[in-house]
Amino acid sequence: PTPRALAQLLLGWYDRERRRLPWRAAPGEAADPYRVWLSEVMLQQTTVAAVIPYFHRFLERWPTVADLAAAPVEEVMQAWAGLGYYARARNLHQCARMVTDWRGGLFPDEEEALRQLPGIGDYTAAAIAAIAFGHRAVVVDGNVERVMARLFAVTEPLPGAKPRLKALAAKLTPAKRAGDYAQAVMDLGATLCSPRNPACGLCPWRDACAGRLAGIEAELPARTPK
Ligand code: ADE
Repeated sequence: PTPRALAQLLLGWYDRERRRLPWRAAPGEAADPYRVWLSEVMLQQTTVAAVIPYFHRFLERWPTVADLAAAPVEEVMQAWAGLGYYARARNLHQCARMVTDWRGGLFPDEEEALRQLPGIGDYTAAAIAAIAFGHRAVVVDGNVERVMARLFAVTEPLPGAKPRLKALAAKLTPAKRAGDYAQAVMDLGATLCSPRNPACGLCPWRDACAGRLAGIEAELPARTPK
């Protein structure tokens, strides 16, 4: 199948099976960059299940980026307690102040501008550009690497295979619905294409997956032993 056909298959699956997560807009509705940013920073080193109650509490207390910017940093740190990696909370607050003071509360929509903000690295900049603004940014995290390694039977071990996996991810990223596509790959990696015992029978890419066809899906991605 062509990259376009593969993307379509995955988007169809996402329309049927996507996880209802509180930071996702309803189908057809515009995403709120503040929610997308807040959720992506929280998800950097924390699981979806652990993030959900924090996300709700933050939004209730600080409904906009300007509200968060106006809060004393100690209150933000306190509300963050339990999520870990506290530098993230400090960066979060500083980022809120910069966006509020310098940009009137509007997040930049380009990856490069997003990367200039505290706490926003390559992954988060791409995720915000795609999910909040619909740009065709290539979003790659550990889930996406696993899915690409299996789909294309990339046996080269991580971390050396990273550039190759990113190039494959780029080839599949569609021009339209790039944000849904990015979240669809993440959902696939978090649910069916799990590290152990992937549920290939339910996967929209089962007939195209070179890893599965070779019977090596469970061994991918390979890792260079430490
Ligand atoms: N992990 C990080 N960001 C995510 C998102 N937007 N959807 C699902 N899982 C994620």
